[in-house]
Amino acid sequence: MSNPLLATKDIPTIIHEAEHGEGDAHVTLKRSLGLMNLITLGIGAIIGAGIFSLTGQAAGEFAGPGVTYSFMIAGVGCALAGLCYAEFASMIPVAGSAYTYSYATMGELMAWIIGWDLVLEYAVAAATVAISWSGYLNKLIGLMAGQGTADAWLPWMLSPFSEAKLTDGTVVHGILNVPAVFIIVMMSALLIKGTKESATVNNFIVALKVVVVICFIGLGWGFMNPANHVPYIPPNLTGNFGEYGWSGVLRAAGVIFFAYIGFDAVSTAAQDAKNPKRDLPLGILGSLAICTVLYILFAHVLTGVANYKDFRGHDGIAPVAIAIAKTPYGFMKTAIICAILAGYASVILVLLMGQSRVFFTMAKDGLVPPMFAKVHPKTQTLVSSNLLFMVFTGLFAAFVPGSIVGHMTSIGTLLAFVLVCVGVLILRKMRPELHRAFRCPAVPLVPILGAVVCLGMMAALDRETWERLFIWLAIGLVIYFCYGRHHSKLRAKSKE
Ligand code: ALA
Repeated sequence: MSNPLLATKDIPTIIHEAEHGEGDAHVTLKRSLGLMNLITLGIGAIIGAGIFSLTGQAAGEFAGPGVTYSFMIAGVGCALAGLCYAEFASMIPVAGSAYTYSYATMGELMAWIIGWDLVLEYAVAAATVAISWSGYLNKLIGLMAGQGTADAWLPWMLSPFSEAKLTDGTVVHGILNVPAVFIIVMMSALLIKGTKESATVNNFIVALKVVVVICFIGLGWGFMNPANHVPYIPPNLTGNFGEYGWSGVLRAAGVIFFAYIGFDAVSTAAQDAKNPKRDLPLGILGSLAICTVLYILFAHVLTGVANYKDFRGHDGIAPVAIAIAKTPYGFMKTAIICAILAGYASVILVLLMGQSRVFFTMAKDGLVPPMFAKVHPKTQTLVSSNLLFMVFTGLFAAFVPGSIVGHMTSIGTLLAFVLVCVGVLILRKMRPELHRAFRCPAVPLVPILGAVVCLGMMAALDRETWERLFIWLAIGLVIYFCYGRHHSKLRAKSKE
């Protein structure tokens, strides 16, 4: 091995270790999830704050009804990356997802970087959704107990660095986001209880939120006002990038990209899946396809029932409530908000589950402490990992404003997508003989396009987000050079 930082893990060894545990630490997860569970896991992670909150903001401020094109653009970007994920997942069905794929293709240092980066995609995304959950809860309190009560509680539903304007124009400052912490603790407790139990709750919530989306599309279709869709893409009158017109559609695509995050969480369930080689590609691509179709129809109806201008100036919290109030179904507002709150909970659940799986694999490789690879003998769950990320994600949710964590999630996820696309190209070249139960079509075009589209979306993010990404990665490198490098099992083996 010439340069240990570039040392890659051999794929047959990775698969063997994942299936049989390794050495003394016989640690494997129980294979309890079938294809339907995997598809619902994907949908569980995908449909959430993105569609129920950001669509209104993206239409109102950037794209008008043309936000449906934004969903198509972001959907294509995700489909390209999804095809690459599907190839890897069918070839290396191991819980580490992009981290493991990088270990097999680009070496240990890159694997560490991507594993550390995935914390942004999973744990920080869970914090983002928890913050949005808290915002919707405030709306629900307003509906049920009166706006006065909702306003009085608001400081305890916002981070200390956030502020919000009340209906009378007063500005309130946040103290601590207590409900966001609460929902994270609840979902972590469920994960600790059991994977099967978590999947059952997830299945129920997914059914509920898909019904809400389909009902909204079905019932709302008849109440669309064709005038709201004219012009479909409002013209850009200022000449500034992103203020309507096609540039607005592109900017909105960057915003609603968040709505697709989570389809790759299916790949982190590789060691929970009964038949991973067949079911993982189907789970990844199936959940992505279903959500893309639902999103496009949903956005079309949302901007048909209400005018996109109605969504301007709202904090993006409840566009569905705004639209539904324009139909005779306004009385269903409270029930719909309850279903949406449940829907967010399942996103948090699956993202936290994905996070614990990635850490599980990193711990087995020695890059993080071995306690995170311990499967609890009774519950068969990753208790230490779940507790660690409950605290970490809870702190983010309590103290950091939603927009900051949201952008960090997007840039972290896009980086992972780029590396997975590049990884497919590398592995096709280096190990063409390996069996791939699913082959990404049109290689090298699809991976190259996937990487380019994702890089383009990263480039559209602001400078502060890039700076935060670099700071985050720098912290990760310090940890690697202080701990991971010295405990890496691959390095230990190479020295034997
Ligand atoms: N895609 C997930 C959501 O929109 C993260 O909430």
